Amino acid sequence: MIIGVPKEIKNNENRVALTPAGAMELTKRGHEVYVQTTAGLGSGFEDHEYTAAGAQLLPSIEAVYEKAEMIMKVKEPIEQEYNLIKKDQLLFTYFHFASYEPLTKAMIERGATCLAYETVENPNGSLPLLVPMSEVAGRMAIQEGAKFLEKPMGGSGVLLGGVPGVEPGRVLILGGGVVGTQAAKMAAGLGAQVTIMDINLDRLRYLADVMPANVNTVYSNEMNIRRHIKQANLIVGGVLIAGAKAPHLITRDMLKDMIPGTVLVDVAVDQGGCIETCKPTTHEDPIFIIDNVVHYCVANMPGAVPYTSTIALTNATLPYAIQLANKGWKQACKDNEPLKKGLNVIDGKVVYKGVADAFGLEFTPVEQFL
Ligand SMILES: NC(=O)c1ccc[n+]([C@@H]2O[C@H](COP(=O)([O-])OP(=O)(O)OC[C@H]3O[C@@H](n4cnc5c(N)ncnc54)[C@H](O)[C@@H]3O)[C@@H](O)[C@H]2O)c1
Repeated sequence: MIIGVPKEIKNNENRVALTPAGAMELTKRGHEVYVQTTAGLGSGFEDHEYTAAGAQLLPSIEAVYEKAEMIMKVKEPIEQEYNLIKKDQLLFTYFHFASYEPLTKAMIERGATCLAYETVENPNGSLPLLVPMSEVAGRMAIQEGAKFLEKPMGGSGVLLGGVPGVEPGRVLILGGGVVGTQAAKMAAGLGAQVTIMDINLDRLRYLADVMPANVNTVYSNEMNIRRHIKQANLIVGGVLIAGAKAPHLITRDMLKDMIPGTVLVDVAVDQGGCIETCKPTTHEDPIFIIDNVVHYCVANMPGAVPYTSTIALTNATLPYAIQLANKGWKQACKDNEPLKKGLNVIDGKVVYKGVADAFGLEFTPVEQFL
């Protein structure tokens, strides 16, 4: 198959959909890989590393779209790219269709086959191509939180690990899923006193088993949250209710009960946030302060660490990309149920129910195309 890797053009997106290691895995299986020049640079991969891995370079995004049967990307195509997409071209990337109607309509119009990372789904409901980014964001939440706890950054001036003779900082984590678990590991590693709250008792049991002694688990309810926010120095929001807006577990009136300079990192901001006063921010201007409480609500946290994020993402996407390249998307999706769930739009038809429902569009069962 002919595979194209364009350079991401969305603002501040430095990730790339294929590393030189991935290019090598594809070319050694007989596929042709075309990478736009400097596509990997933002993630630390130079053009010559791709050519050494057997890929060929193309000078422009137009040339990549023109050449490729399968386009591998990170972010959804943006408006400038819509017209470059060819009928029946396979696009393998994040789309998040349900949040943006113009994109959905454009992909229907172009007649492309859209396989969305975010809806590839394992039989147990886990989303293997979203997990790596939650892992990155969860770990980053503590790194960013620790930074903004510093006095010159607006925080209370608490060092999370403490020092001998001084007690460590307290970290409260709402949601013990992927984000929460990774955040807890990082905070515990720094020596902080960590509390994880969740409503899933089995999850709390598991976490209580595997976490070190400086991590406690507490059932999530309003009374417990109100009690714990009074002592926390850093609060991380990592709550998710699949397919729904995150619940506001921390409400505006609770801010006055917090220690001045407390830092809130609402990782769930991309689903509306679990802290009422959070609104999306960017890496250029990541925080704002309300009632002496620092709010960090960057919606694309992994974007700040593109080297790690690119490798984490491509570790997860490459096995699927290899199947798509080896077998073609139809056979690959017939053979692989999780991958089949990634199909969202085919030949102008919406084949993912949630996307059709979001915009009142006609839904066509994917089986009609396989
Ligand atoms: N900002 C970013 O850059 C970024 C990056 C990656 C992920 N995210 C977001 O982070 C959020 C968490 O993702 P995840 O992968 O950890 O999800 P997950 O499904 O693994 O975990 C969510 C957890 O929240 C728990 N939960 C649900 N209701 C709760 C409540 N009332 N109180 C406490 N816990 C509750 C669930 O039981 C689950 O354990 C998602 O919204 C995701 O989109 C954001």
